[in-house]
Amino acid sequence: MDSTLNVAIVGATGAVGEEFRNILGHRQFPIGKIKMLASERSAGKSVQFNGKPHTVELLTEDSFKGVDLALFSASGSISKQYAPIASDAGATVVDNSSAFRMTDGIPLVVPEVNPEAVAGITLGHGGIIANPNCSTIIMLVPVTPLHRVVSVRRMVVSTYQAASGAGAAAMAELRQQTEQILAGLPPTCDKFPQQYAFNLFCHNSPIDDRGYNTEEMKMVRETHKIWSDSSVRITAICVRVPVMRAHAESINLEFNQPMGRVQALQILRDAPGVSVVDDWKNNRFPTPLDASEKDDILVGRIRDDISRNGEDVSGLDLFVCGDQLRKGAALNAVQIAELLL
Ligand code: A2P
Repeated sequence: MDSTLNVAIVGATGAVGEEFRNILGHRQFPIGKIKMLASERSAGKSVQFNGKPHTVELLTEDSFKGVDLALFSASGSISKQYAPIASDAGATVVDNSSAFRMTDGIPLVVPEVNPEAVAGITLGHGGIIANPNCSTIIMLVPVTPLHRVVSVRRMVVSTYQAASGAGAAAMAELRQQTEQILAGLPPTCDKFPQQYAFNLFCHNSPIDDRGYNTEEMKMVRETHKIWSDSSVRITAICVRVPVMRAHAESINLEFNQPMGRVQALQILRDAPGVSVVDDWKNNRFPTPLDASEKDDILVGRIRDDISRNGEDVSGLDLFVCGDQLRKGAALNAVQIAELLL
């Protein structure tokens, strides 16, 4: 019996699409045929997979016949339109967009956190699984193992988000603006309304009537869904920084019972998908560059929160960095598919 799977990548030419190709190749996912799908802008062009050129095909309603696994990363509107079509054609969809994350009955999965959520889904028999927002994944991989030992009652998170989260065009704009400014030229602002190079700005998603932007509320709502617990109180501020492909986050945790640095260190050293980088003597802590092209989330600055001393609750500070394109997107999606093998 053929034990390989037919895979389609929707958005194969994008920043996450490129990472899907790299990761599927490196992890030796059991692929029979692979289809590279994109818009008419890229149809007919060639992309590399496993060292060989593959022709990009135009995404259409007929793209999913005989496909077992469809990895989507081509925007929420493309997912909304085509993921149900793919699922009806028998492909199991792992969707990197926000289109279905909060839909009842659609699992929202971080494999280290809630792998049980994919129960009942079989590759090649349809179904949609949502990949969480990159900042949510990068936060929950290190925070969940702590939460399992002593429950978190409140989280305060500040993000420092890379260009890759806004796609290949944002990465190109950051590079171009950097070159322009160093050459004494005015920066071209196409993707973002503000200058990005040598600057930072609050996440460019719509603001609600309480002043929270969509990215910040994704971190709140998605955590509640993934943990199946909406009692944990979360506040977030999301900021775009001129870094190419790894996000950083400052996370302050308030626990219901004592949780100190020593215990946290022990838990984090054993946690799957986490590497502790916490060298006080040499001042070496996680950086986006060190996290780039790595699978693990790097965690450091693990400190008892001194503002909590003497209270009956305990607090802990963390600083984490994770590759937005890998664990924040493509790797997490491929790991979800691996849960189904
Ligand atoms: P294309 O190369 O044809 O524009 P990123 O997130 O890096 O911006 O990438 C977006 C991905 O989604 C690209 O692969 C892009 O393909 C793809 N895409 C965008 N719009 C469509 C569409 N209408 N149909 C199919 N793929 C699309």
